[in-house]
Parts: sequence; C-alpha cells; structure tokens
Amino acid sequence: MNIRIFPDSQTGSVYAAAIVEYVIKSLPSPVLGLATGSTPIPLYEELVRFHKRGLSFAHVTTINLDEYVGLSASHPQSYHHFMYRHLFQHVDVRPDRTFIPDGSASDLAAECARYDDVIRNHPIDIQILGIGVNGHIGFNEPDSALKAHTHVVRLAKETIAANSRFFKPGEAVPVEAITMGLQSILLAKQILLLAFGEEKAEAVANAVYGDVRTSSPASVLQLHPNVTFVLDEAAAKLVLEREQAQASGSAR
Ligand code: GLP
Repeated sequence: MNIRIFPDSQTGSVYAAAIVEYVIKSLPSPVLGLATGSTPIPLYEELVRFHKRGLSFAHVTTINLDEYVGLSASHPQSYHHFMYRHLFQHVDVRPDRTFIPDGSASDLAAECARYDDVIRNHPIDIQILGIGVNGHIGFNEPDSALKAHTHVVRLAKETIAANSRFFKPGEAVPVEAITMGLQSILLAKQILLLAFGEEKAEAVANAVYGDVRTSSPASVLQLHPNVTFVLDEAAAKLVLEREQAQASGSAR
C-alpha cells in the first residue's frame, strides 16, 4: 500500500488527476472506475481542465461504483446526475460508454447481474475510491460479512446521516443503494483511494493498519498489489502520529 500525503485536497487531487491522465493517454481503450461524493470533485475539475487543454475522453469507458435505489437518473442527488454535472457534460466521453447502476430498475436483482456483466466485459484499469466515515468503499458497509459482487445494500445510519447533507431539508434520503462488490473493486489493475479532512482520519487508519476485517471494508485494499492512498494532512492525522511515534521510538 502506498500512502501519499499532501498539504491539502487540491494538491492531492492534482496528483491523482495526473495519474488518471497517464492511464487515459497510455492505453488504447482505458476503463476508469469512478466514484462520487464530495471527495473526487476536485479531481474531476482537474480532469475537465486537462480536457480543455486537449486531453480526449473519446476512447474512455467509465464504470461507476454505485447508485441510490429509488432515485431516477434525473434526480439532482442521483449519482447519474452527479457524474453528468461534474464530469460527463464537460468532456467528450461517449454517453454509451458510461456505466452506472440503475437504481430505479424494477428488478434490482437483474440489474445487479447486468452490472456484473458490464464489469466483467470492461476490466477496470484504474479505480478511484473515496471512503465513508465508517470505512465503506463504494457502498460496501461494515457488516458481519462482505460481498464480492454487485448487490443491493441497506445503508448504515452514519452513511445516511453523512449523505443527508446533500438533500434538501425534509427531503427523503435514500436508505438503500446498489453497489459494486469488493471483488469487482479488487480486480481493478490500479486503485487510488482519496480521503480529505479529519473526519476520515479514523477510517483511513483502520484501513491501513491491523488485519483485513469486515468492520473496515476499506481494509480489503491491503490485499491489492497496487493501491495508493492519496491523503491530505488532516485525513492522514493518525498515520502521521503513528509514524512520528515510531520515529521517536527508534531514535531512543
Ligand atoms: C458515498 C459514496 C462513496 C464515497 C462516500 C464518501 O457514500 N458511495 O463512494 O466514498 O460517500 O463521501 P464524501 O467523499 O462526500 O465524504
């Protein structure tokens, strides 16, 4: 696991964008695994800037991690709408090459199976991840067991609380989602997990240190050979404290 710590989210996002740019430029048919949430927004802004300076997405396929159940693609808080707003409308990616689970499907089991086919048919070259305050990736929540493939998940109460900030007061916040499973995430050739802000510090430390465990879904990333955590100093707070303690211990 590589850990890169930056002074702030902006410089971390520029670093992540440069890695994604390299993948886009170096492969004939790159497949990007994309995430939503507030964390990757500066990364998408940077990619849009690269596009304005000539980076083409015409040969790119994108596969998103997840979508709320019950929200149509046109709902302003759906992840379909998020991706359109922050990336797709600004670049030349082909709409038929952007994949996001359909949270409004009438048969959710069939939609999960369809999405697993999409992932199988488009092996992901680089997967972008955020992390929930409880250590979830995609919407793979801490639980007594973790799931390999695309599935419907009941969101944890801390996730619903965290995501409620994006909804209008009084508006129903979704309690279920469709998410890519952990095997699908781990099959990506390269993974970049972005975490910014002190509220992510504990989730990051739980992912990086200790055993792989279901109480910290992001800890499964320890099993992957090419993962980079891109952190600001606030999200890296516990990592830095541990490194300092180790350094002063070995200096004694
Ligand atoms: C949601 C998404 C995750 C994301 C997480 C953190 O739950 N499903 O993919 O990583 O939120 O969101 P934020 O980046 O806004 O903190």
